[in-house]
Amino acid sequence: MGDPRRVGRYRIVGRLGAGGMGWVYLGRSPGGRAMAVKVVRPELAADEAFRQRFAREVDAARAVGGAFTAPVVDADTQGDPPWLATVYVPGPSLAEAVRTGGPLPEEQVWELGAGLVEALQAIHGAHVVHRDLKPSNILLAEDGPRVIDFGISLVDGRHGLTLPGVVMGTPPFMSPEQVRGARVGPASDVFSLGGVLVFAATGRAPFGPEEGLFYRIAHEEPRLDAVPAGLRSLIAWCMAKSPGDRPGTDALLAEFAARSGEVAGESWPPAGVAETIRERAGEVAERGSTGTPGASVSSCLLSHAQALLDAGLTDGMVVEASWRR
Ligand SMILES: Nc1ncnc2c1ncn2[C@@H]1O[C@H](COP(=O)(O)OP(=O)(O)O)[C@@H](O)[C@H]1O
Ligand SMILES: [Mg+2]
Repeated sequence: MGDPRRVGRYRIVGRLGAGGMGWVYLGRSPGGRAMAVKVVRPELAADEAFRQRFAREVDAARAVGGAFTAPVVDADTQGDPPWLATVYVPGPSLAEAVRTGGPLPEEQVWELGAGLVEALQAIHGAHVVHRDLKPSNILLAEDGPRVIDFGISLVDGRHGLTLPGVVMGTPPFMSPEQVRGARVGPASDVFSLGGVLVFAATGRAPFGPEEGLFYRIAHEEPRLDAVPAGLRSLIAWCMAKSPGDRPGTDALLAEFAARSGEVAGESWPPAGVAETIRERAGEVAERGSTGTPGASVSSCLLSHAQALLDAGLTDGMVVEASWRR
């Protein structure tokens, strides 16, 4: 299937990325505002269970709303295909920023942490557990990180589509309770946050390669030797094996805010990220009238092939598999 020219009332002017569900396009509202339009793949859209899951994604994103995510503007979960339009956030994902510019300096990891903890407070405050916090689901915006992609989130503790013994998540950033197929609550997102910060600071996921990953997540300590010493104990606390031993977001925010307030000089956004934000904003302005649906936005940074790589490898993948102990 080719790229759509129009989705709902939005004119499609470029591609932003790909994930497990389909493509995310850059769209224009009739009044000219830039939107990210996520369009579900036709083969998934044919599956009623999947449509329900997509409707829950939209509900979760709407429930969270606000400054810490990409706010939902419009959606049609029963459409053919189903789609979701959110405010376009100019800026790279954390996955992209680290891939192109390398790990973030320690000060900016503190700031990233503070921003992400606040985002988690907004998410958990809306009775949502994200369950898929990872580098490709974090956009680095001018005013701080935004958490997107509520594709496998749990709303209000409802179990609905999650069956006991069924694992959902992105393996390198999953919590021990997630890999065991056990009950997952807000503390699971805190564990994933620890893993995300390891990635931000080192360019690597905390438990190494795929082989034996679930076992190491469940039983071994994360590799923190490459993490700057100042961050280690807080990250290790987030990554405690037992959910009850992890810090709550209030305690975490106090720690992160104190440290990110202390660091003088460099501040958010990191220089490389600021440059990407400028480029994207310029590119998006240009695409107003001349864009074609199939052309990738962020042409210099995010090629089609790279988007697929992000989608299929460590930071884009979502598994759904039975897990036998
Ligand atoms: N609101 C947005 N603004 C800018 N880029 C976005 C936005 N939403 C999604 N993207 C881009 O599309 C990619 C995939 O979006 P995501 O919602 O994570 O979909 P998936 O469920 O397919 O992983 C993101 O990593 C990001 O690059
Ligand atoms: Mg995603």
